[in-house]
Amino acid sequence: MFKSVLFVCLGNICRSPLAEGAFRAEVAGLKLPVVTDSAGTAAYHIDEKPDPRAIATAKRNGVDISTLRGRQVKVADFTRFDHIVAMDADNLANLKRIMPADATAKLSLMLDWAGRKGESVQDPYYGDDDGFNITWADVVEASKGLADHLANEA
Ligand code: 4NP
Repeated sequence: MFKSVLFVCLGNICRSPLAEGAFRAEVAGLKLPVVTDSAGTAAYHIDEKPDPRAIATAKRNGVDISTLRGRQVKVADFTRFDHIVAMDADNLANLKRIMPADATAKLSLMLDWAGRKGESVQDPYYGDDDGFNITWADVVEASKGLADHLANEA
């Protein structure tokens, strides 16, 4: 049975595409059947490629995220995905605000899966390459924890 995971940030061009890329690489290594996607709580970057700095960061680490395109979270996501993983506390709060009554997805924060409960993946958008490297390290760490959890989940 395929598990499904949606990664969510604000713009869907920096953190959540990096999280999706890191997680896809992790589950491919484990041969875990998982469907992934990413989305933004905002509508700023619909149909856009990830930020060029995010594409370059993933590429340096052997992962191609250049084919991903931005989209906004929608109500149907709450019944379509098993897990919806927010990059930061603001986006988690916004997800809870739009969550329908019949939602079946489990909501979490990305860094919960790295044993860093309540911490947010910092937004690298307004910073430099160092910020993107930190984001990459964070999403890789959390992806390992989430993949382990899914591998052991019934
Ligand atoms: P993300 O970063 O939420 O990690 O994709 C951002 C991307 C765009 C904007 C803010 C954050 N923006 O304001 O356009």
